[in-house]
Amino acid sequence: MSLMVPTQLKINGPLSAALPDQAHADAEDLGGQRLRHVYIETMGCQMNVYDTERMLEALGKAGYVPTDSAELADLAIVNTCSVRDKVEHKVASLLGVWKRLKEFNPDLVLGMAGCVAQQEGDKLLAKMPHLDLVVGPDQLSELPQLVEARRQDQQRLAATQFVRRQDYEFPMPEAPEDGRATAMVTVMKGCNKICSFCIVPFTRGREVSKPSAQVLDEVRMLANHGVREVTLLGQNVNSYGKDRNLPGAPGELDFAELIHQVAEIEGVARIRFTTSHPMDCTDALIDAFASCGKLMPFFHLPIQSGSPKVLEGMRRAHGVDDYLAKIERLRRQAPQVALSTDLIVGFPGETEADFEMTLDLIQKVRYATLYSFIYSTRPGTRAADLPDNVPMAEKKRRINELQRVQDAITAEWMQSFAQRELLVLFEGPSRLQQAGPQSKLAEVRDLRGLQVMGRTPENIKVNVASDDLSAALTWKGRLGRVRITTVGQHSLQGELLGWAE
Ligand code: SAM
Ligand code: F3S
Repeated sequence: MSLMVPTQLKINGPLSAALPDQAHADAEDLGGQRLRHVYIETMGCQMNVYDTERMLEALGKAGYVPTDSAELADLAIVNTCSVRDKVEHKVASLLGVWKRLKEFNPDLVLGMAGCVAQQEGDKLLAKMPHLDLVVGPDQLSELPQLVEARRQDQQRLAATQFVRRQDYEFPMPEAPEDGRATAMVTVMKGCNKICSFCIVPFTRGREVSKPSAQVLDEVRMLANHGVREVTLLGQNVNSYGKDRNLPGAPGELDFAELIHQVAEIEGVARIRFTTSHPMDCTDALIDAFASCGKLMPFFHLPIQSGSPKVLEGMRRAHGVDDYLAKIERLRRQAPQVALSTDLIVGFPGETEADFEMTLDLIQKVRYATLYSFIYSTRPGTRAADLPDNVPMAEKKRRINELQRVQDAITAEWMQSFAQRELLVLFEGPSRLQQAGPQSKLAEVRDLRGLQVMGRTPENIKVNVASDDLSAALTWKGRLGRVRITTVGQHSLQGELLGWAE
């Protein structure tokens, strides 16, 4: 079965009165197994995208087929993120919309997974009588049984227990059959850091590394099915393997060693990873950017603030100078590597002078790109006890200023690719190509013709035109030599010069 991560749900206006006829009557018997439809809305980080795929696989074995519309589903799940409160509000309003679907399909089961589910547990069932099921990240493999239990005995359920570290088993993903060129591979779960603003250690639990043999098996399986690029995932991949070296645990690889082993696997052309904590970023990992040709030259290394005082309040366990020393080493060893980071503005006590240190930092490092966030108090974290004393208007001014300064740096970086010849790994049709006839993008697509999307080693999207109608399929997974003809704000346009292999 080919899997997809469904697109965003959009319900505008009243729900169609014809819903029961078209959708739910479709739940049919197939070889003795009742075929049902599942819709999953994914919010937040790549970890949630990965978890959604695992949920779809587990449900697929129980007879559920993915649909890209909640209106057609017998089971609708929102996979949530609780890193900022804005996302939590989105979850509540989405479930409000889904509640109305139950009027048309009383058998519809509504579930919530992910970090909000873990954090709030059965309180959610009390708050939302239309919610049937709450499932934490450690219980995802139990999902089909939990849904069935709900269908059988009508009990509403919250399954949010953490599995003990030594008992935790990572699910082995199914082989992808959609010919994808890129895939994510979770190498660990949880986080042992205690950044004072962050909810993740509470919602994802303590670090558990996937045994390296399993990571390597998974990558081999993906490579055998055409995957050329793997992204190794974890909240802090830099501490990969540390938990496995606890007394009694078998000796394992550290993260730099893991990268080198993945690079040995035939068929893998590119390796990426995300995300990192500077304190655990070893010299060996930095040096891998120079010594491992398959490790792509893009490093996301979150710093959060340019002020040592704010970093201390954030309990980041690193300062500005030691962070910069790591960047210096990286630039000495592998000057081609593009950098990105995460920054928070308006952390409790952040003064104008602190904020200016952040501006100075980005001018100094000259990140290719960055992710900036307005500080949002998360219940239960240490920073929640501090007065959230930067007014929202000031937080907004700071984030706008930060983005204005960074936009100019990013534009300069993007311009450096003009007219260059780059190696591009093609992934499939461009976003333009996928636009439906009603989409605003359709007009642009008709003007530009067939476009195939790929990425440069620095992870920049490149669109390349082709007259060959099958190019979106036949170029997928191939490395092409592309000359850049047009530089956009966040993507490039180019022409194919030839194949690199
Ligand atoms: N593990 C990563 C690291 O080393 O920093 C970060 C994981 S976190 C889920 C992703 C980003 O969200 C963080 O780097 C931080 O910038 C942002 N973030 C986390 N908690 C936040 C909060 N309470 N308010 C605003 N932004 C937050
Ligand atoms: Fe959060 Fe810090 Fe871990 S940002 S995910 S506690 S490294």
